[in-house]
Amino acid sequence: MTTQTNHSCDFCGKSKEDVEKLIVGEHAAICNDCIDLCSEILNDEKDKKVLNNKNTLNPTLIKDYLDDYVIGQDDAKIALSVAVSQHFKRINNPSKDIKLEKTNVLMLGPTGCGKTMLARKIAEYLDLPFAICDATGITEAGYVGDDVESILTRLINEADGDIEKASRGIVYIDEIDKIARKGESVSITRDVSGEGVQQALLKMIEGSIMRIPSTSKRKHPGSDMQEVDTSSILFICGGAFVGLDKIIEKRMDTRSVGFHSVTVDKTVVNNPYRMATTKDLIQYGLIPEFVGRFGLITNVDELTIENLVQVLKEPKNSIVKQYQYIFELDGINLMFENDALSQIAEKAKDLKTNARGLKNIIEKILLPYQFEAMDLVERGLTKIIIDKNSASGKGEALMEFNKKTVDAKST
Ligand SMILES: Nc1ncnc2c1ncn2[C@@H]1O[C@H](COP(=O)(O)OP(=O)(O)OP(=O)(O)O)[C@@H](O)[C@H]1O
Ligand SMILES: [Mg+2]
Repeated sequence: MTTQTNHSCDFCGKSKEDVEKLIVGEHAAICNDCIDLCSEILNDEKDKKVLNNKNTLNPTLIKDYLDDYVIGQDDAKIALSVAVSQHFKRINNPSKDIKLEKTNVLMLGPTGCGKTMLARKIAEYLDLPFAICDATGITEAGYVGDDVESILTRLINEADGDIEKASRGIVYIDEIDKIARKGESVSITRDVSGEGVQQALLKMIEGSIMRIPSTSKRKHPGSDMQEVDTSSILFICGGAFVGLDKIIEKRMDTRSVGFHSVTVDKTVVNNPYRMATTKDLIQYGLIPEFVGRFGLITNVDELTIENLVQVLKEPKNSIVKQYQYIFELDGINLMFENDALSQIAEKAKDLKTNARGLKNIIEKILLPYQFEAMDLVERGLTKIIIDKNSASGKGEALMEFNKKTVDAKST
């Protein structure tokens, strides 16, 4: 067979001179424009597959994935899994007769218990554009800081500039409690009450056509603004709402006075956030219209000592596993005794930082051994065992040198 040299694209017929690049194979040629087009078609197909993927439609599978990384927090996991799967169903099956309203989610709960982590893990699981923003940086138009539209710009960036794709995405706004209306708000760069930001977020969260500065590389001449329809974007907002528990407890105390006292479940007493009502949130400083935009209000619970021990060792990329990996790189087998893990968990509990403080505590314990690791390996070290004593800072870790266990003190 004779090899024939192609000088034009076999797809669109354009000649080599009329295109930027012509890739010539043995029997056919294709130009750069046709390659782009093919790639778009393939990506669209991929998007459709993702939208119909049963892994993203089945809430139990979404929760299974979250379970691999986040300890406890079943209420929030179930609420998020359902909201996300509903979101997929909704954007995938627009009905002419029944307008499916979106269910934005508000997630409350103490610091360091997994709110942001849940959002990040959901983002990893999905193949949808997902932007994580922080409400503290957002200001009302006219003030120093990012305006609410910057959230959409971020989402569009996550969608590689594809507005269509971005308008089906998910936005997580963290620290939403920081824009509650508060008398003592001190920032002079932000509107004093925070209410302005809530007002500005309202329209976007509810669903409207927003105009934002164009980020597109292929700008239409003369248009530096682009329109984004937010009605199919799912918004998840999270916040620690420090002090909300007091509002809830006070309300419940008043209700339980006298004959009509209600017996309150013990788990509720431990986790008052579970009982949060829209009224409590309004009293906290969210404006009623803002609270009203969230179809689902869920919470994360304070982590118990047992939970904190689980956080240390169970998730797929748990802190213990991370450090074991780091030490393994130097050829050291790092072990934690159960007593030591409980000790670390108790310390985190005392510091009231929940899981957020765990890494810091472990880092402090392991720092001297990390510093000396390579020298110790040269002297034959094979194993470091962190026991209760070394975890509490009262002694040094146990070390094994060439299979012989010796107390670190005696070396
Ligand atoms: N339930 C949990 N399971 C596993 N790890 C957790 C859990 N909660 C928190 N962590 C760990 O603690 C860190 C901090 O958690 P995260 O950022 O999700 O807290 P948060 O609830 O968003 O707190 P804040 O209100 O202060 O923003 C995470 O990166 C993770 O390592
Ligand atoms: Mg957070």
